[in-house]
Amino acid sequence: MPRLMGSALTAETGLIGRFRTLLGDDAVIVTAAEMEGFVEDFRGRYRGAALCVVHPSSTEQVAAVVRACAAQGVPMLAQGGNTSLCGGAVPAADGTPPVIISLARMRRIRRIDAANGSMEVEAGCVLETVQNAAAEVGRLYPVSLGAEGSCQIGGTLSTNAGGTSVLRYGNTRENVLGLEVVMADGTIWNGLRALRKDNTGIDLKQLFIGAEGTLGIVTAATLKLHPLPTHHALAWFAPTDPQAARQVLGLFQANCGARLTAFELMNARQLQLVVEHVTDRRQPLEGAHDWHVLVELADTQGAADMEAALQTTLEQAVEAGLVEDAIVASSDRQRAALWDIRHSVTEANKKAGVGLTTDCAVPVSAVPAFIEQATQAVRALDPQIDVVIVGHMGDGNIHFIPMYPFDVWRALADATATGAAMRRGVNDAAHALGGTFSAEHGIGQTGLPEMAHYKSGAELSIMRAVKAALDPRNLMNPGRLIPDPLH
Ligand code: LAC
Ligand code: ZN
Repeated sequence: MPRLMGSALTAETGLIGRFRTLLGDDAVIVTAAEMEGFVEDFRGRYRGAALCVVHPSSTEQVAAVVRACAAQGVPMLAQGGNTSLCGGAVPAADGTPPVIISLARMRRIRRIDAANGSMEVEAGCVLETVQNAAAEVGRLYPVSLGAEGSCQIGGTLSTNAGGTSVLRYGNTRENVLGLEVVMADGTIWNGLRALRKDNTGIDLKQLFIGAEGTLGIVTAATLKLHPLPTHHALAWFAPTDPQAARQVLGLFQANCGARLTAFELMNARQLQLVVEHVTDRRQPLEGAHDWHVLVELADTQGAADMEAALQTTLEQAVEAGLVEDAIVASSDRQRAALWDIRHSVTEANKKAGVGLTTDCAVPVSAVPAFIEQATQAVRALDPQIDVVIVGHMGDGNIHFIPMYPFDVWRALADATATGAAMRRGVNDAAHALGGTFSAEHGIGQTGLPEMAHYKSGAELSIMRAVKAALDPRNLMNPGRLIPDPLH
């Protein structure tokens, strides 16, 4: 036994030395203090151990790191901005400590082709940097979410991130034209085509999007850009209930067509937490209302027409008894302030307590039933539970969040089991309505038991076959995404 440990240690030390030679000393982090921000998620919910953290600066360096790990049989975990809400970006508490491959130094925007509506970027580019670079040439990279100031493109690709503009532009998956990936054996696949049409066999890039680093490491992508909307019309309104919100969504779809860009729902409790915990956030409407919606229209022209459509639709909704109150943003500043409320929910909830974030999607028509049934499910487990709801109503994607004050959570006899039961109750409600437990956050660590529970044997065995073909030695983020057959 001591001999085995000794030889493993020598191999590991050898690997770290190899990384130093390949990348330079400053690109290899080994001390616990320096690894701190890489081994724990930003909410402090998940923590694991790593052999070391490496910072390659180029695709060739990533490939060299992967080859070195493969030669020693050491597992690898690719990491972006570490903003996962389900423990997807950090090592598990058990299992062999992996080498964390941070993509943060791969942050070049390689080229922008405004005429083609495409942009080639490296995985470590921060989402907001990409959005701004596209806007500078009059184009839109549409993926937008609360963490956009720190999450990285590679992470958004590996989780197929959604966000607040899916209603109009689709998920990350729909906004990618090509990928560059380092495979498990260190081979570089250059699939950076900038084509809107390419029917040459299996669409390989889609395998890696949403695979959470289990099939290979995404090092760069060709993103799809859209015309940049320069005119916006935004309203915040209080629907009488989720069913009314769904009806108002229908009115907007009928009246505004493709200009409808966002339709975001939250309950009064969620809004209250934002106002309480984040500076400079205020209640948008007078008086108390149970439900709130942010709706936005956007286009490249026709501002007056668009504002009229927004007003008319809201008036129709008020007349039909669907809306209690509404305000329309009258300046860019007001518009930004209302979006700031929406994008502050994660920051607020992190400060407010232990929120059991869920990420269900159901058919849009079933959102009201889902909210009702999920509420019944969690209240059956705990009649006092605080229910925080925020979501992308236009996509049928609702984050139903049972929320515990920190001290109550700490006092629970078995917090892990309680959390799992709460989540299962919510996810069961979605499942019964033809929904899914993971719409846009990915599987991470939170969703792994749910994969085993909800996915059919046929689906899991196809995933296992793909995994075995692309990573036969199970070194790329092992133990993730596809649950062990014994679970
Ligand atoms: C949001 C995150 C929780 O919708 O996905 O703000
Ligand atoms: Zn969301």
